Amino acid sequence: MGSPVTREPSLLVRALRGEKTERAPFWFMRQAGRYLPEYRALRAEVPDFIGFCLDPARAAEVTLQPIRRFGMDGAILFADILLVPYALGLEVSFKEGVGPQLAVVRTRADVEQLAGQTATSADRLAPVYETVTRVRGALPDACGLIGFAGSPWTVATYMVEGGGGHDFIEVRRFARRDPGTFGLLIDVLVEATIAYLDRQIVAGADAVQLFDTWAGILAADEFDRWCIAPTRRIVEAIRARHPTVPVIGFPRGAGTSLLRYAGETGIDAVGLDAGVAPSWAALALPGRVALQGNLDPILMTVGGEPMLAAARAILAAWRDRAFVFNLGHGITPDVPIENVAALSRIIQDWRRPDRPA
Ligand code: CP3
Repeated sequence: MGSPVTREPSLLVRALRGEKTERAPFWFMRQAGRYLPEYRALRAEVPDFIGFCLDPARAAEVTLQPIRRFGMDGAILFADILLVPYALGLEVSFKEGVGPQLAVVRTRADVEQLAGQTATSADRLAPVYETVTRVRGALPDACGLIGFAGSPWTVATYMVEGGGGHDFIEVRRFARRDPGTFGLLIDVLVEATIAYLDRQIVAGADAVQLFDTWAGILAADEFDRWCIAPTRRIVEAIRARHPTVPVIGFPRGAGTSLLRYAGETGIDAVGLDAGVAPSWAALALPGRVALQGNLDPILMTVGGEPMLAAARAILAAWRDRAFVFNLGHGITPDVPIENVAALSRIIQDWRRPDRPA
C-alpha cells in the first residue's frame, strides 16, 4: 500500500540498506532546534510545543532549516516522541526549564483506558503526515526524509514516570511487579507506533528511526522482553507493508545487549551512542546491519581539533562498513553554529578509499 517510489534511492537510503557508499551520508540527532536562531524565532511564535509540532507549515519549515544551512543528507521530521501518548488521549505538556510533563499511567485501569484509544490514535496525528508530505515536496531528491517514533519502552518510561526521569524507579518497579499489565501498555504502544510510522511512510518518509533513549536502564534479563521483542514486532510490521523502507534502531546505552539488539530485532541500521568504541562496533556488530553514529555531542561544543580528530577516527574505523555519520545523542542548544558547519564539511569531503568518486 506504500506510495510508489519514483525517485532514485538517496545516498542515505543506500547506506541504510547496507551499501558501502562513496561518501558517508550524515545527519545529526536534534539537528532542528534551539541552537539555530531561525528555529528560536519561529518557535517563539507558538508557546505551546505540542501545538508547534502539529502546525504543518512551521514544523515543515524547521525541518528544512538545518538542511539549507549545512546540506545534511537526511532531514528528520520535526515532531516529538511524546506525540504518541498525546494521540492516545493522555495530557502532555512541555514546561520551559522543566521538560515534559504527562498524566501518569500506573494502574490496570489507566492502561485499559489507553487500550481503547489505539484504533483512532494515529488519525489524531494527521497534521504530522501533512508535515511529512510538505517536507518531501520541498526537499531536494538527494536528501532522504527520516520519520520517527519513540520505542515502546522509552515512551512508556515517560508515561509511567509522568515526565523525564532520573532513576526511573516507578517504571522499573511497574515492569517487575506487574509484567502482565505493563506488557499490555507495551502492546498498546507497539500498535500505536506501527500505525503512526506506517502513516509517515505513506506520506513520504524514506526511512524511519525508533528512538530507544532509555534502553540503557533495562536490566539484562528485562532487555529482550521490553526492548528487543517490541522492536522486532514493529520492524516486522513495517517491513511487511514497506519492504524497501529502512528501519534504524537507536538503543541508547544498551552496552553488551547491543549484540542481541542488532542480531535479533531485524533493524537495517543500528544507532550507536558515544559509549561504543567505533573500532569495536566495526568488528563486533553483524555485517548486514549498517552503523549510525556516534560522535560525542559534547565535542560539538568544544569544536576545533578535538571535534575534527574524533570525526576522522569514526570515518577511518568504519571505512569497510556501510554507515551513516551522526552524533551519539542530540545536539544541545549551546552548540556554536560554526562547529556544526565545520563538522559537516569534513564529513562531506571524506571519500571511501576504495570508492573515490
Ligand atoms: O531535529 C530533530 O531531531 C527532530 C525533532 C525531534 C525533537 N524531539 C524535537 C524537540 C526529535 C527526533 C525528538 C525526539 C525526542 N523527544 C526524544 C528521543 C531523542 C533523544 O533526544 O533522546 C526524546 C527523549 C524526546 C522527549 C523530549 N522532547 C524531551 C525530554 C524534551 C525536553 C528537553 C529539551 O530539550 O527541552 C523535548 C522537547 C523538544 N523536542 C525540543 C525539540 C526541538 C525542545 C523544545 C523547545 O523548542 O522548546
